Amino acid sequence: MEKIETLIREGRAKIRTGDAFYNPHMRFCRDVSSCAFKSLEEEFRENVCDGFSASGIRGIRYYLEGGAGKVDFVDANASACGIIRKNCRSNKIKDCKVFKEDVALLLLRNKYDFVELDPFGSPLDFLYPAMRAFRKRGILSVTATDTAVLCGAHRNACIRNYFSHPLRSEYFNEMGIRILLRAIAQYASSYDFGITPLFSLSKRHYFKTFVFVERSAQKAFESAVKCESISHCFNCLHREIGIREACPVCKKKMTRAGPIWIGEIHDLGFLRRMEQSCEELEEINAMGDSKVKETIQRMEKEVGFPPWHFNLHALSSKQKKSSPKIEEFLGKVRKKGFRAERTHFEDNGFKTDAGIKVLRKIV
Ligand SMILES: C[S@@+](CC[C@H](N)C(=O)[O-])C[C@H]1O[C@@H](n2cnc3c(N)ncnc32)[C@H](O)[C@@H]1O
Ligand SMILES: [Zn+2]
Repeated sequence: MEKIETLIREGRAKIRTGDAFYNPHMRFCRDVSSCAFKSLEEEFRENVCDGFSASGIRGIRYYLEGGAGKVDFVDANASACGIIRKNCRSNKIKDCKVFKEDVALLLLRNKYDFVELDPFGSPLDFLYPAMRAFRKRGILSVTATDTAVLCGAHRNACIRNYFSHPLRSEYFNEMGIRILLRAIAQYASSYDFGITPLFSLSKRHYFKTFVFVERSAQKAFESAVKCESISHCFNCLHREIGIREACPVCKKKMTRAGPIWIGEIHDLGFLRRMEQSCEELEEINAMGDSKVKETIQRMEKEVGFPPWHFNLHALSSKQKKSSPKIEEFLGKVRKKGFRAERTHFEDNGFKTDAGIKVLRKIV
């Protein structure tokens, strides 16, 4: 007997998943991505590759909610391709093609303005073909679910695959996303593309980022030099960019980590456009989770700070004190003349330009 399948509504799409992979827990990621796609200039929404399509949900949403022009769907799995075709028909996606092949091969053969990479695990294998698929400018959308590697649970794998030392500090997730961005910057710059991250999201077990790439030897150079190692002191929590043996605060040995992307992980103007798109999508009930806007607003506050954040619990326990209320604490830091803002990375996290000595006195 044929399996009776329920219709899944996500955003403006109504799909049936059949045997194709579909993870409802990734809806938040797709909501944020759809919102970001809608915020792109038209030139980047024209010729889209939905790599690793599975049910086709991302590309279908980019078309229905974000105004995508022509969408190429690609999945190596034959039954997934059948399902994508059905979903494209039922959602009235006019200008689309479905390819049953390896994403890498399609990217080496065709040119795109927007490339979606949503693989199982690491996107590393597909960064080189993605760079080959851009002409002068484009948008690369990357999901990474190999967070155990990027965040330091599998340290050796990170060194081996990403050529970078992860850090099991309070800001391991920010380190992870910066190791991923550094890998993207490296692949891009070796093809003379510079990168500008538009937004970078860390959530549950995944990272998601949209990166603007532009072919220019100068921009590629500027991106390449935004990748550096950092030094972290586990004794007093001081951290700094560059490699230093002894901590300048407590004189203990520092731990070296990275190289990481030390540039901005978001573009403030783009995040503001995303906020606007989010409101428009909420009006048509396309956003599943009210937290999308809140997350974008937290990201906006992260711009203009050093490439790490602090955790209030970790800071207070270093001082053998109980944790104060975060807003009260940040208020005190600001009163001393420093900037201090909460982060989207964790509820107890904050970014500041104040140094560790100041923070430990205030907490
Ligand atoms: C994580 S799922 C994609 C999820 C989908 N984008 C979504 O949002 O629901 C990965 C998909 O990529 C396909 N796949 C894995 N390796 C591939 C490759 N090298 N080329 C093309 N498709 C591949 C799998 O068949 C699977 O459908
Ligand atoms: Zn120290």
